[in-house]
Amino acid sequence: MALPTYACSSLLNAVFLAGGSPVVLDVRADDFCLDADAAADSGAKIAVAVHSFGCLSDIAAMKAAGLTVIEDCCHVLGGVAGGEGSAAIFSFYATKIITCGHGGLVWDHTGRVGTWVADYIRSDGRETYKPRFNFQLSDFQGAMLRRQFGRLPTVVARRRAIAARYAACLPDGVRLQRGLTEPSTMPYRFTLTLPDAGQRDRLQRALATAGIATIVPIERFELLHRYLQLPVGAFPNAERLADTTLSLPLYPALTDQEVDRISDALAGYSLE
Ligand SMILES: Cc1ncc(COP(=O)(O)O)c(C=O)c1O
Repeated sequence: MALPTYACSSLLNAVFLAGGSPVVLDVRADDFCLDADAAADSGAKIAVAVHSFGCLSDIAAMKAAGLTVIEDCCHVLGGVAGGEGSAAIFSFYATKIITCGHGGLVWDHTGRVGTWVADYIRSDGRETYKPRFNFQLSDFQGAMLRRQFGRLPTVVARRRAIAARYAACLPDGVRLQRGLTEPSTMPYRFTLTLPDAGQRDRLQRALATAGIATIVPIERFELLHRYLQLPVGAFPNAERLADTTLSLPLYPALTDQEVDRISDALAGYSLE
């Protein structure tokens, strides 16, 4: 199974749990997604394509190359992804677009994957035995999630408006993840790429001084090829992203005043 190195470590767990062999690949430097040609050339039969931070992975190209595609839609709920692949997965963890604390959703065209998953997460009252896990959502979580789904259009609109506002304030030399402000995406993170690590750290310090907390979205040590101790030289784009990216606050509860303050700080910043 081919998967991007610039991704959540849960994906590695999932591949191992499914009895697959991970083929960890570098990502594209501009949109942080799996490269369809690299996935096709990797010898893998299945690609786990992450719509990274809300930008759309090229599912059609992967399918055209003969791969079965599992779409990781954890960052793109509310965008237009989730339907082209053979199956799609969503997370409702606390930091996600909508949440019920923990848990997720699996979707597929045929319903076969859903039926298999439903069987896998409930072990009581079975006529036959196979290893199963109790990954069920509680009723309380389900109730919370139903309410949150009702709010999804508002959440999406607010996230898009904040991202558009920041995007209009980018200083020269600072790049935004490619595709993030397109209408089909769901801005989950607003991730900037700086020319080098020193410039990234300098921007982070400047924003911290202005009272604005930022994060490095994926650190070097979190890259999946590092967990598997693969040669770092084979993953130049992800290594560079870990050193040069910075993510600004982006969530619906930000007030207009806070968004203005962050936008102004960004607009007034100059690279050295
Ligand atoms: C892109 C991506 N895929 C998968 C996951 C795993 O989701 P969960 O924490 O619900 O297992 C996450 C969570 O952080 C994620 O960001």
